[in-house]
Amino acid sequence: MKRPLAYIAGTGRGIPAKVMTNQDFAALGLETNDEWIVERTGIRERHITAEGETTCSMAATASRQAMERAGVTAGEIDAIVLSTATPDRLLPATAVDLQAELGASRAAAFDIGAACAGFIFAASVAEGLIATGTAETVLIVGAERMSSIIDWTDRATCVLFGDGAGAAVMKRTNPSAGPHPKGVLATYMRSDGTLADLLYRPAGGATIPFSAQVLADRSHLVKMAGREVFKHAVRSMADATDRALDLAKLTGKDIDLLIPHQANVRIIEATAKHANVSMDKVYVNVDRYGNTSSASVAIALDEAIEKGVITEGKTVMLVAFGAGFTWASMIVRF
Ligand code: COA
Repeated sequence: MKRPLAYIAGTGRGIPAKVMTNQDFAALGLETNDEWIVERTGIRERHITAEGETTCSMAATASRQAMERAGVTAGEIDAIVLSTATPDRLLPATAVDLQAELGASRAAAFDIGAACAGFIFAASVAEGLIATGTAETVLIVGAERMSSIIDWTDRATCVLFGDGAGAAVMKRTNPSAGPHPKGVLATYMRSDGTLADLLYRPAGGATIPFSAQVLADRSHLVKMAGREVFKHAVRSMADATDRALDLAKLTGKDIDLLIPHQANVRIIEATAKHANVSMDKVYVNVDRYGNTSSASVAIALDEAIEKGVITEGKTVMLVAFGAGFTWASMIVRF
């Protein structure tokens, strides 16, 4: 097992106040119901942004809380790595809007696009920046306004997603700390772009720019082959837990808490079973948030810390899967 180079010093979340329940879809004229959604996904409700709430505003709320808990001021942040599939504007990155909002004037700020696996990708990038000495203190954020890119007329996708943000401050692990210092014990990231069309937005980018036709056929919104995505999610999350455990030279029994991407409770259960982690050691909040893409693992991590489920000395495994496909895992000692 490697000696940690970076640790998570504080976390936070930014959640829109507005709650949309499964029953609320009836008002949109969609043929769906609470029973179907709960049985297939485990989702009961999700948070949705109101007028004036943005990806950046949710990210800022999450970031301020993470910075306060880490005891870090905006001026001390060397880099902001923000994962989003729903940037407020296509240019520039939402990370620079967040930088301006926080007054983190020394920070390099940039977005990464790795969909639902993005928060773990961001954590891995942050660990690398710290390991090379480029940065001492990195703010990582997963922030998503999925309600702005889902097709509210497509019952097969719109019931699955929600809005929200989660953040963490990562810092350099003290090299002279004791024999078991806290921090990142293993990271693993993979992608398979040959499967991109199973979960994507066909138009609205540089190849097929916005046009009246695009708006009319709704091809700028999320399209998903649900069953195929489900199969790959289960397979990839299993691969990711295997690899992280191998890298850290641990087994499922050593994991105090598993925090999987919150897309679907059936995918979560399959992942836990594969990793040999019992469900009482798995953090689940998909029932209250739906799939918040790259914010999902970050929000769950923050809740678990706030509730006292994660305390000092605990070993936590994060694992996620998303469009791309991308998948990633990380084992962290707190
Ligand atoms: N309410 C009621 N019925 C619905 C529905 C809804 N919201 N959405 C789809 N259906 C219907 C379908 O039209 C289909 O009807 P049909 O048999 O008459 O054609 C039926 O339910 C079964 O659809 P199917 O897509 O085969 O269901 P499923 O068991 O695969 O469940 C998902 C659908 C989307 C819940 C499931 O595939 C899934 O969770 N996939 C992974 C999605 C995901 O997590 N994506 C993000 C990854 S980061």
